[in-house]
Amino acid sequence: MSISMIWAMGNNGVIGKDNDMPWHLPRDFAFFKAETLGKRMLMGRKTWDSLGGKPLKGRTSLIMTRDTSFSPEGAEVVHTLEEALAEGKKSDELMVIGGAEIYRMLLPYADKLIVTRIQEDFEGDTFFPEVDWSHWKEISSTKGIRDEKNPYDYHFVVYKRTD
Ligand SMILES: NC(=O)c1ccc[n+]([C@@H]2O[C@H](COP(=O)([O-])OP(=O)(O)OC[C@H]3O[C@@H](n4cnc5c(N)ncnc54)[C@H](OP(=O)(O)O)[C@@H]3O)[C@@H](O)[C@H]2O)c1
Repeated sequence: MSISMIWAMGNNGVIGKDNDMPWHLPRDFAFFKAETLGKRMLMGRKTWDSLGGKPLKGRTSLIMTRDTSFSPEGAEVVHTLEEALAEGKKSDELMVIGGAEIYRMLLPYADKLIVTRIQEDFEGDTFFPEVDWSHWKEISSTKGIRDEKNPYDYHFVVYKRTD
């Protein structure tokens, strides 16, 4: 069992704007899909809303909310950190897919970070929480393809916890 976090962020740590992504990067969506397919994904209720309130195909959606009456179709619900961690114990690899509140809560328990680093500053209202990178070792970095539909320089970077 392990807990992985996956996100994309700009140079300035921005991950969201108006409950949406601040950029359009289809090659990162494809990467996200390949990394999460067949796995259990934990997300906050706002991220669930930002995805249109529908489960992503081929993956199990676990939504974290304080609302005990929340019962969306096609997804499971957790209400506490303890329940979320229990899900992590059940899964070979629980994928934490955001947003900022959920990343902040689960970061101390994560084993692996999968980050799309976009070499650009973005305007936004949601930032990835501060990471103490001295606890993390980069194990791979792959340059993403820049083209007409993906007009940024970006890298897919994977880190493993060192302690
Ligand atoms: N760039 C990326 O890779 C990426 C990835 C994901 C999301 N995002 C962006 O991030 C933004 C959303 O992030 P966010 O931080 O605003 O929201 P979020 O983390 O997605 O969801 C927050 C919600 O989670 C629930 N929650 C939080 N703490 C809880 C706790 N201790 N116990 C139970 N439930 C709890 C609450 O739901 P209730 O209010 O229902 O109680 C809270 O309102 C959007 O802009 C989205 O597009 C970006």
